[in-house]
Amino acid sequence: MENKLVGACILGQSGGPTSVINASAYGVIKTALESDCITNVYGAAHGIAGVLSDTLYDMGKEDPGELELLMNTPSSELGSCRKKLADPDADDTEYKKILEVFKKHDIRYFFYNGGNDSMDTCSKISRYMEKVGYKCRVMGIPKTIDNDLFGTDHCPGFGSAAKYIATSVAEVSKDTKVYDTGAVTIIEIMGRHAGWLAGSASLASLCGEGPDLLYLPETDFDMAAFISNVKRIYAEKGNCLVAVSEGIHYPDGSFVSEAKTSATDGFGHAQLGGLASLLAAVVKKETGAKVRGIELSLLQRAGAHLASQTDIDEAFMAGMMAVKYAVSGTSGKMVGFERDTSSGKYVCKTVLLPLDTVANAEKKVPLEWIMPDGAGVTGDFTEYVLPLIQGENSRVVENGMPRFAKLKKIIVK
Ligand code: F6P
Repeated sequence: MENKLVGACILGQSGGPTSVINASAYGVIKTALESDCITNVYGAAHGIAGVLSDTLYDMGKEDPGELELLMNTPSSELGSCRKKLADPDADDTEYKKILEVFKKHDIRYFFYNGGNDSMDTCSKISRYMEKVGYKCRVMGIPKTIDNDLFGTDHCPGFGSAAKYIATSVAEVSKDTKVYDTGAVTIIEIMGRHAGWLAGSASLASLCGEGPDLLYLPETDFDMAAFISNVKRIYAEKGNCLVAVSEGIHYPDGSFVSEAKTSATDGFGHAQLGGLASLLAAVVKKETGAKVRGIELSLLQRAGAHLASQTDIDEAFMAGMMAVKYAVSGTSGKMVGFERDTSSGKYVCKTVLLPLDTVANAEKKVPLEWIMPDGAGVTGDFTEYVLPLIQGENSRVVENGMPRFAKLKKIIVK
């Protein structure tokens, strides 16, 4: 091979976890271990933080059976971080450290698995390595339950979270109707600035249990209209089920969530949450109804028992293809997905997207997929999400409980 590059690789996981990010890790690790260009396969502890502190795990020393269990192990097994790197042209201190670690271990391949902010990290490292003339192929692998990465049809992690949300909303909906006294139930769903996850609650209507009201962060929230809608539906049906994104905001952009003032994470985002309780208190005061606020919180991104097999397979494919593309000469790109329905069936193909165009951009739900009153989504939304939640995963179970991967995490000297 003309552009053959031989050396070790590092895989880092970054940002919030998903129930399938470890399937991408397995795609990278397995493919890299099988590649004759990659001499050693290392996992960075807590993403770029582990590279900076030279804390790398030797994946080649893991039991292959345990590595395979990553396919159904939720959370980020190597550890994650939310760390923003400086612009290398303004301050290259951390990049010099990264270069030192790369040289020490002869790292020639760097794979970074994360969302928009993580693609920014990846893009900056790629640029720096090119600038200093260090031969290293840098590849981004998409991940985010928020589904807001620019340029790709969808992101690994989203389909499983959407399946969890739609199923949970349908199940909770059944429960909310048991008493003869009625209730108002408000379910809070993640997704800071994009409503892909919240919109997925609408899929509960496929089993006759969809929410009565659904609010996404793509449109401004109107508290008075919300209360009046709840009152109307409660009066008509004696019951009202609301699904709402954690990221809903007023016209001035301020979050409705009461946690808006809490600390920001390493990428500078406000930590949201607490919205369901806030809205529940408002509705209780206004209606006197029995009200319950439910925050799906971490359950929606850790719920591997409900992961979509399509999502698991595609997450693996993204990791595998990142290695294949890199070994064959690609660098500075993120593996993206393209949907092909020309055969009448859903097929997902990989494409290459420049890292700098993906970094820091956000893909939101198109406004034409949101109902004019801002309280629901259209059939186009359902059509988009449906193929992504298909397939029941079969996982290893012991004592009636999931058997997660147990890695030895042997530190590279
Ligand atoms: O990664 C995306 C996400 O899950 C968002 O939907 C959510 O707002 C955020 O992460 C929460 O992040 P953390 O776990 O860092 O509080």
